Amino acid sequence: MDDVTDAAAQKPTPDSVSVSDALSDALSVSVPASLGDAPPDPAVMRRQYRSTPLLETDLAPTPMDQFARWFLQATSAGVAEPNAMVVATATPDGRPSSRTVLLKQYDSRGFVFFTNYASRKGREITANPFVSLLFPWHPIGRQILVTGQAHRVGRDETAAYFRSRPHGSQLGAWASDQSTVIGSRQELLGRYEELATRYPEGEQVPAPAQWGGYRVVPDSVEFWQGHENRLHDRLRYAADGEGWRVERLAP
Ligand SMILES: Cc1cc2nc3c(=O)[nH]c(=O)nc-3n(C[C@H](O)[C@H](O)[C@H](O)COP(=O)(O)O)c2cc1C
Repeated sequence: MDDVTDAAAQKPTPDSVSVSDALSDALSVSVPASLGDAPPDPAVMRRQYRSTPLLETDLAPTPMDQFARWFLQATSAGVAEPNAMVVATATPDGRPSSRTVLLKQYDSRGFVFFTNYASRKGREITANPFVSLLFPWHPIGRQILVTGQAHRVGRDETAAYFRSRPHGSQLGAWASDQSTVIGSRQELLGRYEELATRYPEGEQVPAPAQWGGYRVVPDSVEFWQGHENRLHDRLRYAADGEGWRVERLAP
């Protein structure tokens, strides 16, 4: 695989970037029925990554500027849902859990996603704000790994983003007590229908009190570029006083 370089990708990070829902795409998936074959053996599945090396001198001064470059390159290269990231949280006694969420905004302060504060992840963050984020960009042989602390964004920021969501997603946020056990799919659909009657299309839907954003303020950001023979590049920005120190990790 050739490195995806793009002159436009060298632009500095804008003050704040919203990962717009305007870029959203309807995804309709049909999974082919199994033909009765044995599933493949994962032990023999491997890819060779071919790319130009990632050098210290290639990096932007800050990890968020570097993120902006790679995010643009991933998008230009056609990576599906490049703003999908895996958020890992842990209970105070160290039991981890992870799930995919969508990055909705980023700037020099960090990475923002929206969710239900009463969900499993929300409860874990309340008790232990240390999280990690992983952007798994397999089609271009790259990943970005972030560690840091999650802080709730202001209510005005949540309300502004909630207003920009499609009406159906707004109702969905009310319909679901995320992470709780429910009796059936029918129960969920019933709740949605009730809400759709109460708030018809075009009617302003308020943001639920338990729904909102988190900003992950990074203390380390690693840029991983795959290469042949597993000689990958791993360059990590680590917070160092007011600035950043870059270190190279063994692959
Ligand atoms: C591609 C993708 C994007 C998702 N985006 C979000 C999101 O932005 N916010 C969210 O709360 N859940 C999102 N989910 C659902 C989460 O993965 C998860 O099921 C949910 O947040 C409950 O997680 P929890 O019970 O661990 O708190 C997404 C799932 C997928 C597969």
